[in-house]
Amino acid sequence: MATPESPYGPVVGGGRPVRVHHLTAAKAAGTKLVMLTAYDAPTARILDAAGTDLLLVGDSMGNVVLGYDSTLPVELDELVVATRSVARATTRALVVADLPFGSYEAGPAQALASAVRLVKVGANAVKLEGGRARTATIQALTQAGIPVMGHLGFTPQSVNALGGFRVQGRGEAGDELVADALAIEQAGVMGVVLEMVPEPLAARVTEALGVPTIGIGAGARCDGQVLVWTDMAGMTDWSPRFARKFGQVGAALAQAAADYGQAVRAGSFPAPEHWFAS
Ligand code: KIV
Repeated sequence: MATPESPYGPVVGGGRPVRVHHLTAAKAAGTKLVMLTAYDAPTARILDAAGTDLLLVGDSMGNVVLGYDSTLPVELDELVVATRSVARATTRALVVADLPFGSYEAGPAQALASAVRLVKVGANAVKLEGGRARTATIQALTQAGIPVMGHLGFTPQSVNALGGFRVQGRGEAGDELVADALAIEQAGVMGVVLEMVPEPLAARVTEALGVPTIGIGAGARCDGQVLVWTDMAGMTDWSPRFARKFGQVGAALAQAAADYGQAVRAGSFPAPEHWFAS
């Protein structure tokens, strides 16, 4: 599929809404896929208008929005609300919603019931974590017409089993990760997020798969990249080593709030143009 140029590079989907079939076409054309998280309508509207190809309503909302220190407490109901908000504000990007911890591990029937709730509020696809153990679930979802994105490497929902936030797939574990990637591709995933794996391993998986890989802390040879939007935009002081701050949104927000407070206290806001004389 042809990918027309924009001032910023080739456009996935030719400028039309990004859909599942565009992803493999983008990989074949060597067009990088751009993915960010979003959890609410105003942010999604801005990120979509900026040309982001995929918006992930990630269970990272647990850390980013809800104030938890992991993704584990996030409920399906919370993902449903966030997905509805993001989908309403998005016109071009493909909306992928995370299946949160506890909403799919019991098996295909539970996963299907959870995924249907996310699709009904506007998700174009769902994402779940895990490799060979998830093939039956992936098949059940894809057979029901729900595209699935996989997630391998550091899988945050398994943080307790993995012993913390650690790079995955080093040494012989790399072969296991490749086997997982091939198995979930065979089961029908439309793409695979690779989180915190060594760069050569991410390149090997990317080479081995026909569907795109989306890296986060996995080097530049993936077919696309994803970041948590608050890390990307510099919303917080801390960000992970694999992220780059492309803005200083946190500092800008703090300054705006301080300026507003000063104007209210000084009596310079509101001014006559802000009130109704009659
Ligand atoms: O929930 C999330 O934000 C994610 C990304 C880290 C890929 O799964």
